[in-house]
Amino acid sequence: MTVHVVTLFPGFFRGPLDEGILGRAVTEGRVRVDLVDLRPFGEGRHRVTDDYPFGGGAGMVMKPGPVVDAIEHVRRADADTRVVLLTPQGRPFCQEVAREFAGAGSLTLVCGRYEGFDERIRAFCDDEVSVGDYVLMGGEAAAWVVIEATARLIPGVLGDAASPEDESLSAGLLEYPQYTRPREFRGLRVPDVLLSGHHGEIAAWRRRQAVIRTARRRPDLLERADLSGEERELARRVLRGETVDEG
Ligand code: ADE
Repeated sequence: MTVHVVTLFPGFFRGPLDEGILGRAVTEGRVRVDLVDLRPFGEGRHRVTDDYPFGGGAGMVMKPGPVVDAIEHVRRADADTRVVLLTPQGRPFCQEVAREFAGAGSLTLVCGRYEGFDERIRAFCDDEVSVGDYVLMGGEAAAWVVIEATARLIPGVLGDAASPEDESLSAGLLEYPQYTRPREFRGLRVPDVLLSGHHGEIAAWRRRQAVIRTARRRPDLLERADLSGEERELARRVLRGETVDEG
């Protein structure tokens, strides 16, 4: 897949792009990241990209001209790219949106700095996403989150053995507890079932733990989770504060 990133800070991405799994995906040609420096699209001798807000108020606003020129520059080279604005006002970015983006083939992530975008920029984008209900200093860190979550779903990026979508997360649940060696650490023991070698019991334990954990930590996820009648009842009991068999 191709990801174009429109940004005033292309350097933000260069270090991380050379590292780790994403670095390998780029070298292997599975993911192509095209950093589009917004500065040359700025106006005047000083290549200005922001200005004071009409009507007054604190902070600066991204000017429409430079951002839209950069978007059109990308679209001329890659007509089918999906242009996504990073903004706290966008639709919430989640695993489902990552899956949608991974299937898109080409994305253009538009990062802003300063206090916001001129409203007219929105008309030139296809989508807007937010990575959470907080305000970052700019869209770059948000774009990086989108790149990581999306790229790991591209076939081959995690290597052949690894499955990018854990079963519990794709069912809309939090992941079950994981353990590795040693069997006992400072008096805390690995649950016996995980040492039993009994795959059916292990899978059932993990599924039950995922349901219990989601009910305790993220009850908001339960409504859309893919649960059996029995699992729904288990979740309801956890929500009511009843003691349940943890296995
Ligand atoms: N830019 C600033 N804050 C952001 C957020 N929470 N999500 C996406 N883009 C942003």
